[in-house]
Amino acid sequence: MERYGIKDYDELLQRGRDDPEWFWDELARELEWFQPYKKVLKWDPPHAEWFVEGKFNIVHNALDRHVGSWRKNKVAYIWEGELGQVKKLTYHDLYRKVNQMANALRGLGVGRGDRVAIYLPMILELPIAMLACAKIGAVHSVVFSGFWAKAFRERANDAQVKVAITVDGFYRRGKVIPLKENVDQVLDDIPSLEKLIVVRHAECPVEMKTGRDLWWDDVTQGQETVSPTEVMDAEDPLFILYTSGTTGKPKGVLHVHGGYAVGIYTTLKLVFDLKDEDIWWCAADIGWITGHSYIVYAPLLMGATSVMYEGAPDYPEADRLWQIIEEYGVNVFYTAPTTIRLFMKYGEKWPQKHDLTSLRILGSVGEPINPEAWIWYHKHIGNRQCPIMDTWWQTETGMHLITPLPITSLKPGSTVKPFPTIQADVVDDEGKSVREGGGHLVIKTPWPAMFRTLYQDPERYVDAYWSKFPRMYLSGDVARVDEEGYFWIQGREDDVLNVAGHRISTAEVESALVSYDSVAEAAVVGKPDPVKGEEICSFIILKEDFKPSPRMKHHLREHVRQEIGPVASPACVNFVKDLPKTRSGKIMRRVIKAKVKGDDVGDISTLANPEAVDELDNAV
Ligand code: PRX
Repeated sequence: MERYGIKDYDELLQRGRDDPEWFWDELARELEWFQPYKKVLKWDPPHAEWFVEGKFNIVHNALDRHVGSWRKNKVAYIWEGELGQVKKLTYHDLYRKVNQMANALRGLGVGRGDRVAIYLPMILELPIAMLACAKIGAVHSVVFSGFWAKAFRERANDAQVKVAITVDGFYRRGKVIPLKENVDQVLDDIPSLEKLIVVRHAECPVEMKTGRDLWWDDVTQGQETVSPTEVMDAEDPLFILYTSGTTGKPKGVLHVHGGYAVGIYTTLKLVFDLKDEDIWWCAADIGWITGHSYIVYAPLLMGATSVMYEGAPDYPEADRLWQIIEEYGVNVFYTAPTTIRLFMKYGEKWPQKHDLTSLRILGSVGEPINPEAWIWYHKHIGNRQCPIMDTWWQTETGMHLITPLPITSLKPGSTVKPFPTIQADVVDDEGKSVREGGGHLVIKTPWPAMFRTLYQDPERYVDAYWSKFPRMYLSGDVARVDEEGYFWIQGREDDVLNVAGHRISTAEVESALVSYDSVAEAAVVGKPDPVKGEEICSFIILKEDFKPSPRMKHHLREHVRQEIGPVASPACVNFVKDLPKTRSGKIMRRVIKAKVKGDDVGDISTLANPEAVDELDNAV
């Protein structure tokens, strides 16, 4: 701000609003371009091109350029396994490993534009594999390791992946999760798949299929430690990340090299004020967008040192996170409200055992943070001194969009104001700004890290996000703006659940449930939960000849685990004879939701079967 003669936060926001292209141009110049762009933005709503005709590769900026600088021997990742093992990789180490993997992938015939599925837990091979793909111009599609085999199959088939990368097994709460064995069940149903690369990590037994399965160590060993970085167009695809929408079919959110890099680099730098000497820890999973942007790409673009942790936050004891912060002297820490609420439950005696004074700034992401949790985080983790950056954004937005900066006055529970240049608003059903009560949260101008489309589904890109209000991006969230222009995010307005910060579609869980033999119909709603924010609550109508039983409940939960993954397994299963429906036969989720929350059901005159409401009462 000093450099540009900007005196305060308000003026910064004003300058950004007045001239967004100036703002992004200045920041994009901090990265290296193989060929400069001719224009910052070409906006043909709802399609944007950023850094037009610029030639760029995110990996050149995340790795190659640091290796040619003083950062060469700086630690990029401090990795800690659940069992306590520690590995440190410098930028030079990481560069060499990425190059070896890039060469290995090229050797397997993977090239520009080819899709590679990465199904790995929080181990160093995950960022290495992502960077290796990006380096050679391949498009990675990471599938969260908490999803199960069938969810993997669906995503791998949608992206038509040529190669997949997985692991023998990994640790979760001291137990080994056999990922390779799990994925073996579906590999034959992925016709495009040619090779499967397997990382050896938990040393659990696996079967390797000759001709298809290869060990990571074998394919990388002996490879050259240098590898050319493909010159990509700024708009070339970098990755696909599947996320939940309102239908059962996940959306393949597509991000590109250039604008994505500039957007996440800028937000990490300004929102978290990250300095070269800082230790950064984003305690998310790389399988979600938070990890893609703020564990992998943005910290590396900045040349930062990051902590990466494999396991559960409260394993073996409730101070694991605080112990890690003390151990490595973490300065900036970023996590989700569900984690904070979990630790509130354990109590402040756990953080009190540790010296957390290295912390300078805290962050929150993934769901609304309730003021009590905000205050606890501020007091017991931040020692009343660290500002909390409550960052609102999404898989689709790629980067923070509504967030404070460390210079902003905060209000517990508010995500404060749009990042410089971003024009966010809350509108009514007609698309008019509303100031009283809540409304649809929309974004009115493009931003560099915005997704460019939904993979193989350009129409859904337009329909789902840009058609309700012309020229406005519909986020799917409900929010409110107060008299000082502060944003308060209230949650999703569609049939998408937010369970412990994981985005899960009710339709996807319902279709998993009805795929079980005994189930005739299923309805899924979110039930408020003090720790997870929401939990999955299901209502099941069984087919004739089947009887409700605790065993049946168990089977249904297990079935959803197998179909989607443990994250989607319903916390409650209620058997009913009927579900409230409209005359056209649509399940009225609104009524079920109200019952589950204990709210008034409102107008039910359009129901075809009002007696079903009483049934719900009994079930709840
Ligand atoms: O409902 C909002 C919530 O998470 C959704 C996006 O989920 P996903 O694409 O999985 O990305 C999560 C990580 C960026 C949003 O539609 N959300 C995200 N951040 C916040 C939030 N809700 C309230 N406050 C936040 N800070």
